[in-house]
Amino acid sequence: MKKIHLLATIMIAGVIGFTSCNQSSKNKQVVKKENFGVYKGKDVFLFTLTNKDGNVLKITNFGARITWIEVPDKAGKKENVTFGFDTYDGMINGDPYFGAVVGRYANRIAKGKFSLDGTEYSLALNNGVNTLHGGPTGWHSVVWDGEVVEKTEFPTIKFTYKSPDMEEGYPGNMDVEAIYTWTDKNEIVIDYKCTTDKKTVLNITNHAYFNLHGAGNGDILDHELVIKASTFVPVDSTLIPTGELRPVTGTPFDFTTHHPVGERISENYDQLVYGKGYDHTYILDNKEEVDATVYEPISGRLMEVISDQPGVQFYCGNFLNGKRIGHGGKPYNFRSGLCLETGHYPDSPNHPDFPTTVLNPNETFKSTTIYRFSVK
Ligand code: BGC
Repeated sequence: MKKIHLLATIMIAGVIGFTSCNQSSKNKQVVKKENFGVYKGKDVFLFTLTNKDGNVLKITNFGARITWIEVPDKAGKKENVTFGFDTYDGMINGDPYFGAVVGRYANRIAKGKFSLDGTEYSLALNNGVNTLHGGPTGWHSVVWDGEVVEKTEFPTIKFTYKSPDMEEGYPGNMDVEAIYTWTDKNEIVIDYKCTTDKKTVLNITNHAYFNLHGAGNGDILDHELVIKASTFVPVDSTLIPTGELRPVTGTPFDFTTHHPVGERISENYDQLVYGKGYDHTYILDNKEEVDATVYEPISGRLMEVISDQPGVQFYCGNFLNGKRIGHGGKPYNFRSGLCLETGHYPDSPNHPDFPTTVLNPNETFKSTTIYRFSVK
C-alpha cells in the first residue's frame, strides 16, 4: 500500500510555537476553542484553526467533524467550501454525516450481518435492509475528546474516542484517534489510529461534502474530476457490492482523465441507475501521490485527495434534497456537494476476496488522508 511521506517532512521542518486561544506574535497561526453546546452531558467544542495565510478550518468534537473550510479562489476571494451548520442546534439536528468521521464501518454492510471465526454479529439496520456508516449512533454522532496539540508546526487537534465492546453490534473495545492538522499549504491532514482488544472489523473515513463554488452555491456537476482508478465496485439496487470488480474503460465511470461530474451522469448505464448517479467505490491504482483531483473552473479552486487506502467512495449528493439548511441559511440541494471518502470497499466483511478490514488485538491500524486546496 502507498505510504504518505508528507507528515515526516512536516515534522522535521521545525516547530513554530502557537497556543490555543492565543495569537502567536511570530505568525498568524492560531487555534481558538469555543464552547458550542452540551450533548448527552458532554461538552461540545468548536475549534477554529487559522493557518499562516489566514485560511480557516473549523472542526468540532461532535462526530470529530469538519464544519468549515475557508479557502481563496483565483482572485483571492475566500469562501467556505464544505457543508455544515452555523449553530449547535443546526448541527445536532442536521445531516448526520456532514464532515464527520464515520465508523466503525463506513458505508454499507449487507443486511447488517457479518461473521468472524464462526460467530455471527448483527448490527442495527438504518438503511433499508442494510447497515450504513456504523449504525444509527455510530462515531459520527458521539462526542469525542478533543485537545489542542501544542508545539506543532501547524495548528493541530487530536480527537480520541473509546468505542465500547459491542457498540452498534461490533465486537471489541476500540481506541480511536483522529488527528487533524491544517498546514500552510492549505492541507487538511487526517491521521487515523485504531486498536482493539478483540478481533473486529474497521473501515474509517471522513464524510465531508465539498462544493468548490462555495457550499450552497449551486451544484457540483461542472466540477472536473479525476480519480486515479482503473476499476470500480459495482453494486446492486441496495448499493451493496455484487462482487464484480469492473474496469472503468469505456464506461461513464472512467475518470482516469478529467471529466465534469455531470457530463455522463444521465447516461442509461446500469450502475448510474442503481446509484441514482455516482455512489460507488473506486479501487485506487495507488501509483502516484495524488489519488483524485476536483477542479472548479470558475473559481479556479482545486482540491487534491491523497490517501494510503485501497479505495475511495465517490458520492455526488444524489440523496440531498434541499431540506438541510446550512451555513448562511443556504439549502443543500440535489447534487450540490460531492464526497470523496477514502477507505475500504463497502461490505468487505462479507467478501473474503476484497482487501481485509479485519483488525486483530495485536495490530495497530494507521492511515492518513489529505485534502489539499489550491487554485489554478
Ligand atoms: C453513501 C451514500 C449515502 C451517503 C449518506 C455515502 O457515503 O455512499 O449512499 O447516501 O453516504 O450521507
